[in-house]
Amino acid sequence: TIGPDVIEVSALTGEGYFTYDPGFVSTASCESKITYIDGGKGVLLHRGYPIEQLAEESDFLEACFLLLYGELPTKEEKEKFTTNVRRHTMVNDQMSTFFKGFRRDAHPMAIMCGVVGALSAFYHDSLDISDENHREISAIRLMAKMPTLAAMTYKYTIGQPFMYPRNDLTYSENFLYMMFGNPCEEYKVNPILAKAMDTIFLLHADHEQNASTSTVRLAGSTGANPFACISAGIAALWGPSHGGANEAVLEMLNEIGDESRVDECVARAKDKNDPFRLMGFGHRVYKNFDPRARVMKKVADEVLGELGIDDPLLKIATRLEKIALEDDYFIEKKLYPNVDFYSGIILKALGIPTSMFTVIFALGRTPGWIAHWNEMHKDNSRIGRPRQLYTGPAQRDFVPLDKR
Ligand code: ACO
Repeated sequence: TIGPDVIEVSALTGEGYFTYDPGFVSTASCESKITYIDGGKGVLLHRGYPIEQLAEESDFLEACFLLLYGELPTKEEKEKFTTNVRRHTMVNDQMSTFFKGFRRDAHPMAIMCGVVGALSAFYHDSLDISDENHREISAIRLMAKMPTLAAMTYKYTIGQPFMYPRNDLTYSENFLYMMFGNPCEEYKVNPILAKAMDTIFLLHADHEQNASTSTVRLAGSTGANPFACISAGIAALWGPSHGGANEAVLEMLNEIGDESRVDECVARAKDKNDPFRLMGFGHRVYKNFDPRARVMKKVADEVLGELGIDDPLLKIATRLEKIALEDDYFIEKKLYPNVDFYSGIILKALGIPTSMFTVIFALGRTPGWIAHWNEMHKDNSRIGRPRQLYTGPAQRDFVPLDKR
């Protein structure tokens, strides 16, 4: 051992040095030109553009183009990309049969892991990952079909018929239509709510080497097809320490139930003997305000204003934020609200059930996952193969059963 984190293994394997970095706290796994984060200052840039400006002036599909191709699209490029995504929104009809294999009460993320991975069974024409055209068409298919599959998942769990996508609508309008429309009556999409939905997708679009993106890269580094890799990313996102946190935030706010119980909850979060954590607080990289959380709060105010909702959960959240930000424990550990803190309140106001929250996150994160997967293939990366620090028993002789 030559330091707490750097281990000399040459004596064991003759292979030189490796770093021991549990949780990859300070190990870069790759080079990337896609997203920059300054966690200390609370800065997030996609291809150099600040997230606040993108949220204010751009839209989700335009941000997708930026992530995937590296530059903002021209008017013609934007039109072409949007049309291309629109043209691929339908899924194979056999997919409906596939859905029927799931229990109706299955968690939507469980269904999503299955159906997105299953896309690989339908697109044999685009599985040659060494071919740039195959990678591009797979990217478009994933972008286009994820909302359709997500809405089908929701419809399946509530026992309603699947809605065909409508290509005259924008990406986010179409998603809301497939979620909340039904064949019996006309469904009018509220443009303010569709814009809020779009901003939520955009705010989730990429966040460099988070757990799910690293999973997509690691799976992709083996040469696995993009649908299988994105399915692996969805599985990683599901956990409550990652994308599942937005669901956990709302459950926590409901459990607190009243502003008067906020102090008690903050005290529990500080108690080392209590496993309770303030969901929506803290981040591996941000040691300052998550810039996405600020935009999210603004969107929450707009949506609740538009719908005339006076949600007591927003009051609990606002109070929780205030108390935590003034508390020495949270100040010392640099725990600030993250992107998930306010997103649940907006999604709830949009009528999206809690169990679908992480699915929404997955839709938003899809361009980021694909952009990283593609960048990795362009860079001809090697297979990802982390090392380990073995702490088990030294070599010993086998003990026969009657002597143990
Ligand atoms: N509430 C109370 N204490 C916390 C919280 C929290 N939400 N988050 C971290 N801490 C404390 C830890 O107990 C730890 O204390 P210690 O130093 O005394 O042991 C210290 O702060 C550092 O926390 P770690 O868990 O070591 O930090 P790590 O970087 O590994 O974890 C994580 C980051 C998983 C996000 C963590 O802050 C957490 O669990 N937050 C709640 C879940 C959440 O909101 N996740 C969403 C993340 S954002 C995203 O995925 C989009």
